[in-house]
Amino acid sequence: MTLEEFQNEIMEGIPSELPTKSEYDLNLNHAPKRKEILSNDEKKLALKNALRYFPVELHVVLAPEFAEEMKQFGRIYMLRYKPKHKMYARNIEEYPGKSLQAKAIMLMIQNNLDHAVAQHPDELITYGGNGAVFQNWAQYRLCMQYLSEMTDEQTLTIYSGHPMGLYPSHKDAPRVIVTNGMVIPNYSKPDDWEKFNALGVSQYGQMTAGSYMYIGPQGIVHGTTITLLNGGRKISKEGEGLAGKLFVTAGLGGMSGAQPKAANIAGCVSVTAEVNPKATYTRHSQGWVDEVITDLDELCTRVHKAKENKEIVSIAYQGNIVDVWEKFDEENIYIDLGSDQTSLHNPWAGGYYPVGISLEQANEMMANEPELFKEKIQETLRRHADAVNKHTAKGTYFFDYGNAFLLEASRAGADIMAEDGINFRYPSYVQDIMGPMCFDYGFGPFRWVCATGKTEDLETTDRIACEVLEELMNNSPKEIQQQMADNIRWIKGAQENKLVVGSQARILYADAEGRVKIAAAFNEAIKDGTIGPVVLGRDHHDVSGTDSPYRETSNIYDGSSFTADMAIQNVIGDSFRGATWVSIHNGGGVGWGEVINGGFGMLLDGSDDADRRLRSMLFWDVNNGISRRSWARNDEAVFAIKRAMETEPLLKVTLPNYADDDLINSIY
Ligand SMILES: NC(=O)c1ccc[n+]([C@@H]2O[C@H](COP(=O)([O-])OP(=O)(O)OC[C@H]3O[C@@H](n4cnc5c(N)ncnc54)[C@H](O)[C@@H]3O)[C@@H](O)[C@H]2O)c1
Repeated sequence: MTLEEFQNEIMEGIPSELPTKSEYDLNLNHAPKRKEILSNDEKKLALKNALRYFPVELHVVLAPEFAEEMKQFGRIYMLRYKPKHKMYARNIEEYPGKSLQAKAIMLMIQNNLDHAVAQHPDELITYGGNGAVFQNWAQYRLCMQYLSEMTDEQTLTIYSGHPMGLYPSHKDAPRVIVTNGMVIPNYSKPDDWEKFNALGVSQYGQMTAGSYMYIGPQGIVHGTTITLLNGGRKISKEGEGLAGKLFVTAGLGGMSGAQPKAANIAGCVSVTAEVNPKATYTRHSQGWVDEVITDLDELCTRVHKAKENKEIVSIAYQGNIVDVWEKFDEENIYIDLGSDQTSLHNPWAGGYYPVGISLEQANEMMANEPELFKEKIQETLRRHADAVNKHTAKGTYFFDYGNAFLLEASRAGADIMAEDGINFRYPSYVQDIMGPMCFDYGFGPFRWVCATGKTEDLETTDRIACEVLEELMNNSPKEIQQQMADNIRWIKGAQENKLVVGSQARILYADAEGRVKIAAAFNEAIKDGTIGPVVLGRDHHDVSGTDSPYRETSNIYDGSSFTADMAIQNVIGDSFRGATWVSIHNGGGVGWGEVINGGFGMLLDGSDDADRRLRSMLFWDVNNGISRRSWARNDEAVFAIKRAMETEPLLKVTLPNYADDDLINSIY
């Protein structure tokens, strides 16, 4: 397809003529059939909803076709409208349109749907089993058309994938406002999602799927590397490191696929179980995991050898994780670090597979006998927890890696509660590691994408970011030097570790000062022509973006961890301080109804406006969360916000007074 044909297809939006239907591609990884949730009347409503996008004369053809999709997939994806152009992040200059900011958003959307990046590209799912960019292909086409025609005096609103329209605004306003899965709180159970999504009125945007900020597994490789390094520090004697130590986990999917690579970077032996051969062999062929083993005895022999020789090696076990935990217990293989990254935010619809049943049988059961499937899942979770408990009794350090493992295991009645019956017996990685060591100081997953698609630009930005961090480290207090050092080590090894899948993107953890200084240095380099435009962003999984009581805000102990003011304040604040787009979601990371999470994207184009916006917005974007963490009496955050106030005279944050425990205890 020529550039002109590509641009024409984007600008055409939903074609007035019926497009030809393409073959259903069996080589793609497709989403499982969603469970039957709609009544007959509701199916009629879903059909009417879908047909809203198309001229009436096409309805006789489309109505039965969409009804068939509903029957076959449990959703209407409008596959006939899948565009003919290839999905990938093109050079920003190749996108048609009047607004460079809008072009940046198109690039990011296409990256999220790139076949090398997205988990279920035909179903517009980027990661996490159900993390959607759009609900159907009509929404994609319409959104891209709006972006290609909008100016910097307009804002596009996206309601759970549906582009509601373009509205007059102004050049400092976001070009796009995304909301995903925002529902009335009493209607926020997983089955509500199934129903609203099947009706075509809501979607689950995960964190960076529906916010167009996914950068492939690199984002999570970095987070996992930092977590493993810090986890390793918790279990190791001073200076011992992770050599010869064993890390056991599960999942080689969208995000979880990063675990073996992170384990290699952190320098240990790792075993990652994965039930879906497509996921296993994709990661293996991409070089994200070194070896694949399908037999448990062979796995044990290999692990013994790797531990003995202190090899740095990542092994995929093709099968169920429960079998690994149980077998290693029988064989007395000592596990140093353990975790899990199956998609337990989505336990009933393919996020977690039962042990002892083939993948095909499980998928059939999920669609046809959902109650039995649920029983099998809960049985598996109880076995899973029992096996983990046996290992932790021998000394394994196990942490929940933010996939709702402990939450769902507890709901399944697994032996996973602490003695107080309130807390879990294992910490979440945020409680022990990320919260106090990173988020409370403002360190979080800052990222950027070089919008020219040039590797040279990425190399230059890596160098700039490294120089900024090195200079900051020289003048930073000791409390944050370890974080700086880990990230300098990361950025220095980033190119060698070949982390790019899809767009030319990079991630590192930086605090407010680091993010502002790196972004300002990029903008200068764009201004003087050293590099092309850069898109800034971050994961929602950050200091301020996410209110999630079992994850990002699990180290908030003042009772406010079930409130979501911080995430809402964050996107509102970002939107009037210069974000190019903002997004607010229900459920990202741990599941629908469990969390509210938000984020932003910002285009740097080398202009003075971009410089003004980045300083204002990034400062708020981090310090909002530090303020709340400080108000919750987290010492590290009190330290960080006081430091921020010293540097910015216009910042004035309410600080907590600490009540004396003896006084409180004398009263109650
Ligand atoms: N802590 C974090 O920073 C963080 C970041 C990203 C994702 N997550 C969470 O991690 C989870 C995984 O995310 P993802 O994007 O990789 O999802 P995914 O659905 O792409 O991958 C999960 C994989 O687990 C496999 N699996 C399911 N049950 C299994 C079992 N019993 N044994 C072995 N393999 C099994 C699935 O086949 C799938 O490939 C999600 O819940 C997500 O929210 C946490």
